[in-house]
Amino acid sequence: MAGRKVIITGVPGVGKTTVVNEALKKLESEGVEYQSINFGSFMFEVAKKEGIVQDRDQMRTLDRAVQKRLQQLAAQAIAKLSANVIIDTHASVKTPKGYLAGLPEWVLREIMPDLIILVEADNDQILMRRLSDETRTRDKEGSRAIKEHQQFNRSIAASYAMMTGCTIKNITNADHLLEYAAQEMADVLR
Ligand code: AP5
Repeated sequence: MAGRKVIITGVPGVGKTTVVNEALKKLESEGVEYQSINFGSFMFEVAKKEGIVQDRDQMRTLDRAVQKRLQQLAAQAIAKLSANVIIDTHASVKTPKGYLAGLPEWVLREIMPDLIILVEADNDQILMRRLSDETRTRDKEGSRAIKEHQQFNRSIAASYAMMTGCTIKNITNADHLLEYAAQEMADVLR
């Protein structure tokens, strides 16, 4: 029997990976297992092999057709997994030419998620997290642009629910309240 497919999204720097890791620790102690997958890593492995990018933050500047091909290859690989899977990805990606759907029809058709989680946080808190993360090349944008991106993600998530019948869960990852966000995530994954 195929396992549950859960998609975790959130704007860069919102802390989705941090919340997922905390939630998985809680579930592991209860014997609930999920395989955690980063969609961007699947795309990056292919892009790196083809020599078209050197780091993962360059992918969102690639030609739209190339990003679409990378999305499709990642979705096909993930669809083959039979375990319960958490897919860490983006509801939309901010490219130089506008928002790109992270879960377009050709991705959703392969994965058919049961649940999509939107991790959200205060716009200023996201800005500060991006500024203090020196390991990545984060987009330079203000809190108004971050707000617009978070709003866009809510809108596009509604269309994903219409296409697949999955449910949508919003989780707030506020500063100093990681434990609360992780508990909320563990509760919906259980
Ligand atoms: P990806 O690797 O997913 O990039 P990202 O959005 O930057 O994700 P991260 O996991 O690095 O950030 P995060 O927001 O989860 O934050 P983190 O936990 O590190 O994707 C890379 C690329 O792949 C994309 O740019 C795109 O090009 C491509 N891609 C991916 N999916 C795609 C798709 N579907 N279609 C097309 N392209 C796709 O935390 C951030 C910081 O916040 C940390 O410093 C952390 O310590 C801190 N923090 C977290 N929580 C808290 C808290 N509660 N309080 C205080 N600090 C906190």
